[in-house]
Amino acid sequence: MRSMTANVQNDLPIGVFDSGVGGLTVLDAIRQALPHEHLVYLGDTARLPYGTKSPASIERYATQAAAKLGEQGIKLLVVACNTASAVALNALREQMAPVPVIGVVEPGATAAVAANTGGKHLVLATEATVRLGAYRKAVEALDPAAEVREEACEMLVALAEEGWSDGEIATAIVRRYLDEANGFAPDTIILGCTHFPLLRDTIAEVAGAGVTLVDSASTTAAVVRATLEANGVLRSGSTSGSLRLLATDGATRFARVGGRFLGHSLTYQDVELVDL
Ligand code: DGL
Repeated sequence: MRSMTANVQNDLPIGVFDSGVGGLTVLDAIRQALPHEHLVYLGDTARLPYGTKSPASIERYATQAAAKLGEQGIKLLVVACNTASAVALNALREQMAPVPVIGVVEPGATAAVAANTGGKHLVLATEATVRLGAYRKAVEALDPAAEVREEACEMLVALAEEGWSDGEIATAIVRRYLDEANGFAPDTIILGCTHFPLLRDTIAEVAGAGVTLVDSASTTAAVVRATLEANGVLRSGSTSGSLRLLATDGATRFARVGGRFLGHSLTYQDVELVDL
């Protein structure tokens, strides 16, 4: 009986959510690290962007998204949105207990400190994440000697959602944001928004050689593995895990842009529309 219960638990999906397609960068890393796990992803596209909203709205949106994933019966929740992680992680943990909830800010800070590049970090994130100093606090907790500068880059979310990850316009906007950090010469750029890895090449090119770019994706996947292992609910075996994609609006757009994040094409039929 006990082992049957354990097997049922192991087969439950991992829930992952973001305001839009950005969290697919984290989902992809989880899929690569844990190919046997079933995954259900929710993009709250109807209410994107989160980063310009008040903390009260972000918390309300995040708890509603988490509740929708909770209804699917999940064994773990990944908040694949730095904004929701910065604002609402404690509320989400309380809401979802005993289901474990993993945010992306701490794993991102861990990746930055582990890169060991010299301790001068420029964080590119949303307005809400920057306003809370979420990355500064997380990095300084790991390395009190670190120098951290945070820049709100909300237009990069729109570029990523539009799929305009390179070319003249993307380069000009990235350059403008990096110029805002005038005088601060970082050795690490932390992509503190899950949408930004889509613009990685453009950001790297504008930042120039000698600057290391880090994000939360692979370190979050490592925390997911460690948590599933600690709870004895890792799904093993030879069959690949399934993937369900949910969105709150715009299935066609979600499929078009989401395909870029996942590296293979999707159609609107791959996306289920849900109401929160
Ligand atoms: N992808 C989200 C993040 O990691 C937020 C983008 C937005 O909705 O503003 O912060």
